Amino acid sequence: MRAAVLAHYGSPDQFVIKAVDTPKPEEGQVLIRNRASSVNPVDVVVRKGAFRLVTGLFNEPIIGCDYCGTVVRSRSSRFKAGDEVFGVLSPADGHAYAEFVVIDGATAVLKPANLSFTEAAITPLTALTAWQSLVVAGGLKAGDHVLINGCTGGVGYMAVQIAKYVGAIVTGTCRGAHMAFARELGCDTVVNYESESIPTDKRYPLIFDAAGRMTWSDTEASLTDEGLLVIIRPHVDNLSSAVTAAVDLTWPRMKLVILQANAPELAMVKGLLERRILKPHVAQTFLLEEIGLAHRRLEEGGFVGKLAIAID
Ligand SMILES: NC(=O)c1ccc[n+]([C@@H]2O[C@H](COP(=O)([O-])OP(=O)(O)OC[C@H]3O[C@@H](n4cnc5c(N)ncnc54)[C@H](OP(=O)(O)O)[C@@H]3O)[C@@H](O)[C@H]2O)c1
Repeated sequence: MRAAVLAHYGSPDQFVIKAVDTPKPEEGQVLIRNRASSVNPVDVVVRKGAFRLVTGLFNEPIIGCDYCGTVVRSRSSRFKAGDEVFGVLSPADGHAYAEFVVIDGATAVLKPANLSFTEAAITPLTALTAWQSLVVAGGLKAGDHVLINGCTGGVGYMAVQIAKYVGAIVTGTCRGAHMAFARELGCDTVVNYESESIPTDKRYPLIFDAAGRMTWSDTEASLTDEGLLVIIRPHVDNLSSAVTAAVDLTWPRMKLVILQANAPELAMVKGLLERRILKPHVAQTFLLEEIGLAHRRLEEGGFVGKLAIAID
């Protein structure tokens, strides 16, 4: 099969398209002809070698988390050949930048019927992260005010749509050029982080930092007395900020969410996608052969929604 392997950890130039052995499914697993993937910031982290003790020191790893394709061989009672499925692999065990992918039958879900392979493939990692952050960890409910920092990025744009579905009142932050998209998503108030601060006239029971930029001290004055800050990436630039982040995380009003692949929650996301309550937004589609370009585009930023990888 064709796969984008990493010749070495490092820059996007290290991706090489190669013929490699097609993996074989074990009991409980499913082999899919993968038709699409996406690029997530964690793929950049893995590409640079942060997980090399797990992804391998001397091999040529295949990475990539999101997948969507057609089952060719099933050793799981949940799926049969011909089923179209989507889901997310853990970053350290991701191997989705390939034509064929073995997945755990317990965590995949049938692809939303109304979406293309690329539209479906950009969704699992970000939608599940947003759901687990806002609803599971954050306890968001109808009528709550929530601030979503980075509301037009991959996780943020799903978070806004989920918060509106729940019935919350949403303030979103983004750069000036993305404010119109933030309003289209349903944000009730949009803050341009380039020129404005978080409003001080309002206090939020929940702040969700979907951008990985906020510390406890950035948000404390904007939270209600019982308010909760949910983060998905500690804001760490240097040793001192690492110490601050570690201390902050001992505080019960701050929670770090790490995505868990979860079939019941992904099935719920599939339902919301089919009802058009959640709408995927593909900013740009790259071919598997262009995976290096896609990684560069992600690192440049400046787009809304997600980058997709089509695997023909
Ligand atoms: N813990 C987990 O399981 C988990 C899961 C998914 C993602 N993550 C992490 O979460 C972060 C976001 O992921 P993503 O997929 O959404 O990335 P993304 O698509 O690249 O989006 C990043 C967002 O950050 C915003 N941003 C950049 N600078 C900002 C600032 N100074 N203030 C406010 N917002 C700012 C961007 O807004 P503009 O485009 O408007 O500038 C954009 O919306 C990444 O660090 C990722 O690794 C963690």
